[in-house]
Amino acid sequence: MELQREVRALLKKRKAIMLAHNYQRDEVQETADITGDSLRLSQVAAESEAEVVVFCGVHFMAESAAILSPHKTVLLPRLDAGCPMADMITAEQLQREKEKRPGVPVVAYVNTTAAVKALSDICCTSANAAKVVDSVDADTVYMIPDRNLSRYVAKKTAKEVEWWDGYCATHDRLTPEEVRAVKVKHPDALFMCHPECRPDVVELADHVCSTSGMYAFAQESRVETFIVGTEMGILYRLRKDNPEKQFILPSRSLICPNMKLITLEDVREALETMDRVVTVPEEIRVPAKETLDRMLAIPRD
Ligand code: 13P
Ligand code: SF4
Repeated sequence: MELQREVRALLKKRKAIMLAHNYQRDEVQETADITGDSLRLSQVAAESEAEVVVFCGVHFMAESAAILSPHKTVLLPRLDAGCPMADMITAEQLQREKEKRPGVPVVAYVNTTAAVKALSDICCTSANAAKVVDSVDADTVYMIPDRNLSRYVAKKTAKEVEWWDGYCATHDRLTPEEVRAVKVKHPDALFMCHPECRPDVVELADHVCSTSGMYAFAQESRVETFIVGTEMGILYRLRKDNPEKQFILPSRSLICPNMKLITLEDVREALETMDRVVTVPEEIRVPAKETLDRMLAIPRD
């Protein structure tokens, strides 16, 4: 594809690496150097030697790359691609919650703004949330902003978990009835589900994991049919890498409009103009980096 070749040539010219989240449009995933979940992409952004990172995802993800790599130029090809859940808690709101709970560590899901990370103690992603909570030296933690991820973690840890009442509208829409309807038609199928789904949906899952966890599960499992409880963008590589297996989305509404904003044309323009840059002021970046670094220091499995 001509456009794909143009993008790849521009990436070379700018000494850039292109990262794409698992929910991005098919052609964006196809063109990227690396596709992955939030944890993997933040690790790559921290470790890459590229001068420019083109982040195809939503704003908090590009912001995390800018926090971790202040000497790199981080481009978000659509600066208006936000995560509504990340915007559900502001730094001022978190400050008030902290004052109500002196000494209680704040575990911030990476789906938060840099200013909120700066006020938090440690980050987590959907791939490591329970492990992060277990690593914290306290009996009680305060998790932000996702009530569903928090309730899932609360069941997996011996610690007391309190949380902010945020949610992802895309995942929170999926109902147990929709999942059960597919299970009835495909009784042998395994249901894999993102922890941003509601507890009554998570309860039905055979495997609860991050988006990249779903690729691993699908490849390792001998089962042929999977019900997929997350955003539809994940189907592209699941189907491409597992042509003999069947992947079923239980609802048509599993679409994150923000994740679908970036087109390959946007990526080309961002690389041509180099003006869609995400930056974080130093007074926020430095404490936010400490919060992310504490998560990244936890040994990988
Ligand atoms: P993952 O970290 O599992 O990729 O999830 C990110 C996200 O935004 C899910 O909605
Ligand atoms: Fe945010 Fe939900 Fe979209 Fe993920 S799927 S980026 S949590 S709105």
